[in-house]
Amino acid sequence: MKIIALVAPRGGTGRSTLVANLGRVLAEKARTLLLDLDPQNSLGLLLGMEVLEERGLATPGFTRARAAELLGEAKPEVPYIPFGRPPIRVRFDLGASLLADPDWLRRRLDDLCPPETEFVLLDVAAGHNIWQQQALAVADIALVVLSADPVCYALVPGFEQALTEAPRNASGPRRDLYVVNCVDPRKALARDVRDATFHALGDAVFPTGLVDDEAVREAAAHRQTVAHYAPHSQFLADLRHLAAWLLEARP
Ligand SMILES: Nc1ncnc2c1ncn2[C@@H]1O[C@H](COP(=O)(O)OP(=O)(O)OP(=O)(O)O)[C@@H](O)[C@H]1O
Ligand SMILES: [Mg+2]
Repeated sequence: MKIIALVAPRGGTGRSTLVANLGRVLAEKARTLLLDLDPQNSLGLLLGMEVLEERGLATPGFTRARAAELLGEAKPEVPYIPFGRPPIRVRFDLGASLLADPDWLRRRLDDLCPPETEFVLLDVAAGHNIWQQQALAVADIALVVLSADPVCYALVPGFEQALTEAPRNASGPRRDLYVVNCVDPRKALARDVRDATFHALGDAVFPTGLVDDEAVREAAAHRQTVAHYAPHSQFLADLRHLAAWLLEARP
């Protein structure tokens, strides 16, 4: 089982969009499970989840059987496990127990992932927080999702340092890779940010970036993946290249 954690130095760069849509592309090749590790609980919304769905990873008593139940009802394009909407007290207690228990997520994955799972994609809360720490400790690949703007670019060195200091997967080395999302090819600044990221980090960066494509927002509005909603879109073509690039990445 290969675990890919989608992380970012700040919010809004497109992690949830990529987990849902890259997950959909990977699911064409291998058994893939998506996991929402962000208390915002929005990954499922991109895949048709009920708006007030309570169940998920963080809700008490949520077992593999409960996850199967949820997926059986929702029948999503790609299997996913929401974060859930536990009461605020439970949420705080969970945060505290994660601090004291660095293996919490590893055990939760063992509990929740069917044994035949080949890829797990984690939609990780942005910035430096306990969910990111736990995700980095289990990930084979950390895919850092950046947006094509100068402020996001300026956050990269600090984030790179945080990745170096983060706990690592005990079963093998983690590869830290980068993708610049929302590159509008008509905008020189967006192209410059993408190219500067590539020059700074070399082959750890997906060279072309991912295009800013209205089809992504429209697909989200229809609560479908881009593969389903806009199969001929540029974004989907870019995403297929990204998937191939990730599969070739070696630790
Ligand atoms: N390549 C793209 N082209 C166009 N719109 C995009 C693209 N990627 C993401 N978006 C849009 O950008 C917005 C933010 O995306 P998303 O919610 O996936 O980011 P996030 O990193 O998960 O944010 P958050 O920090 O809130 O969890 C959404 O409206 C999404 O539809
Ligand atoms: Mg998100």
